[in-house]
Parts: sequence; structure tokens; C-alpha cells
Amino acid sequence: MPDTTAAPAQDGGMLRPAFWRHKKVLVTGGAGFLGSHIVDVLSGFKCETFAPRRHEYDLVNFAEAKACLDNFQPDLVIHGAAYGGGLGMMQVNPAKLYYDNLVMGANMLEAGRLAGVAKVVVTGTACSYPGDIGDSMNEDDLWKGFPHKSVYHYGLSKKMMIVQGMIYYEQYQFNAVHLILANLYGPRDTFHPDRSHVVAALIRRFVEAKEQGAARIEVWGSGRPVRDFLYVEDCAQVVLRAAEVYDDPAPVNVGPGRGTSIRELVETLSDVVGYTGEIAYDSSKPDGQRVKTLDVGRMARCLGWRPATSLREGLRRTVDWYRHNKAAADQKS
Ligand SMILES: NC(=O)c1ccc[n+]([C@@H]2O[C@H](COP(=O)([O-])OP(=O)(O)OC[C@H]3O[C@@H](n4cnc5c(N)ncnc54)[C@H](OP(=O)(O)O)[C@@H]3O)[C@@H](O)[C@H]2O)c1
Repeated sequence: MPDTTAAPAQDGGMLRPAFWRHKKVLVTGGAGFLGSHIVDVLSGFKCETFAPRRHEYDLVNFAEAKACLDNFQPDLVIHGAAYGGGLGMMQVNPAKLYYDNLVMGANMLEAGRLAGVAKVVVTGTACSYPGDIGDSMNEDDLWKGFPHKSVYHYGLSKKMMIVQGMIYYEQYQFNAVHLILANLYGPRDTFHPDRSHVVAALIRRFVEAKEQGAARIEVWGSGRPVRDFLYVEDCAQVVLRAAEVYDDPAPVNVGPGRGTSIRELVETLSDVVGYTGEIAYDSSKPDGQRVKTLDVGRMARCLGWRPATSLREGLRRTVDWYRHNKAAADQKS
């Protein structure tokens, strides 16, 4: 295995436009939430970006994944396609979650290898960690147990890309980089209740409560679980940063590395939205994993990067975006 302790140049984590010049970059899931922000950043560089939709190339189908790579012949792939959503959605269709993500990941790495791609950057998830491993999850903890039962299908299906990346490095010296992302939020998130994650779901509820002058709002769960929340534009930057400077199959946690309880999130959000009514926590609803925060030491060491956007500022921008795009955002599932 290569040396993950090697630090990149001390440039404050700034992106390097020269790295991207004349490169062909395939962004799978490039029309999705994170993917669209990655495509936005790339549009400022002199590279050629290709972001196919699922109806053009269904990446669960190996022949289509291979055709996608053969037709575009990218130098670099950012794999941001996934089938996922919030806790509620995960309970409804766990088999599809497992199958689609597992097969899509395997296909992209195999098709990428066959096409001679120089690097694949995979966007993984903190759901791959064992349930309740401790207060701060280090990359070595990944192998210490089974994921939380609420997300194990999704978490394990994506974790197999770490395994495949390690094996492909050993046998083929194939360069697959795996980033374990914190909980994302920001403009263009999914706000539909069937699929939304916690931040988007809360933003919708609080904005509507404020608009309707509701006296009381009920929040799912006890408010005690702790999560790491990463603003999506920061995430797009770090994914590209990893593409530039990291060449190692050892996964890297990516996030602020700061735990925020759901209660703190709710209080900050109600302040940002200007909601002044009562907030009640419905403890009869499941909380999911107790604590999910990431140890970001390797990220700091190997990527030389840290997020720029505070939770309050990120929420302010997201609420602002949602208010301006509510009708369309509410429809998108
Ligand atoms: N959102 C989060 O909080 C979060 C947290 C941690 C990690 N992540 C990871 O970050 C990445 C992006 O997540 P996201 O929330 O941005 O997802 P998203 O908004 O749901 O977008 C996912 C994209 O994947 C594409 N896709 C799904 N199935 C496909 C298939 N069979 N073939 C081709 N494309 C397919 C979809 O394309 P179409 O639009 O064409 O259908 C969609 O645009 C994923 O790897 C996810 O696991 C997300």
C-alpha cells in the first residue's frame, strides 16, 4: 500500500486550475445534488466535462457503464451517482438501495479500469461505519463492526467500493480514491419528504411553519443524535481537491469533523428561518445511529483542506435558495 501520510503541497487546499486543463472528466450523477455543484466548479476550468443522466447510461447495467466510458474516454471519473435518500426512504426500498449502489460501484471501477482511466474518485458515505463505534470515527474503525441497522444496506453496498479499490490497486495498480462524506446539505438538495435527508426535511418544515404562522412544529426523534454536516459547495471543492492531490486506496473522511446535535441544528435553523413558535420532539420516532462524527485528521494531512462554510452560513444560503425555488424543489423526488 502507498503512504497515506504524505502531505500535499501547503497551498491552503486551493484548487489548481492547471491540473484540469485539457482533461476529460466524467461526473456520474452530475445532474444530482452534489454532482451538479461539482460540474459547476469544473465549468470554471478549461476541461471537458461529461455528466450523463441515468436515461442515457444506466450504470447498474455493465454494458451501459462500459459504453459510457468507451464513448467519452475520460482521463478521470468522479463517481457521484447513487440511489439514496433519507432514513424514511431507506426503510421503504432497502433491496434496491443495496443492489443499485453495489452494482453501480463495481461496474464503474471495472469499466474504468478496462477503459484505462487514470483515476476514479468515489463519493462514499459515513453510513459505511459500524453502528455506534464511538464519538469520532477514524478510517481504521471502518472494519470494526457492522453498520447501524437503519442504513446497513446502503452503507455496505458503498463500502464494497473501498474493498474493490484496494484489490484493484494491489492487482492492477488502479487508482481509485474513496472519500467518506459527512451528511451533506445545501442548495439543490432533495426537499421532497419521500426522499429528503434531515437538513432539507427540517428546512421545508420550518419554512412552511413560518409562512403559515404555525404555533407548534414537531421534530422527528429525540433531538439527541449527533451528526457532521458538510455544506455541499465545500464538498464539491474537496472532491476535486482529492482528484488533484490524493492517489491512495485508503479511504479519507471528509467533513467539518464537528458534531452537531439535531437539537442544535433545529435551534440554528429556527433562528435562520425566523420561526418563533414551539418546537416539540417526537421521541416515538426512530433516531438512527446515536453519534456519527468523522475524525478528519487524514483529510487535513493528505488533502490539506478544511471546509470554509459555517453551519449557520450554510443554512442561511440553503434556506434562501429554497425560498426562491420552493415550488420546483418540493416537486423533485
Ligand atoms: N446527500 C448526502 O447527504 C450524502 C451524504 C454522504 C454521501 N453522499 C454521496 O454523495 C453522492 C451524491 O449524492 P447526492 O445526494 O448528490 O445524490 P442525488 O442527488 O440523489 O443524485 C444522484 C444521481 O445519481 C444518478 N443515478 C442514480 N442511479 C443511477 C443509475 N442507475 N445510472 C446512472 N445514474 C444514476 C441520478 O441520475 P439522474 O438524475 O439522471 O436520475 C442522480 O442525479 C452519492 O455517492 C452519495 O452516496 C451523499
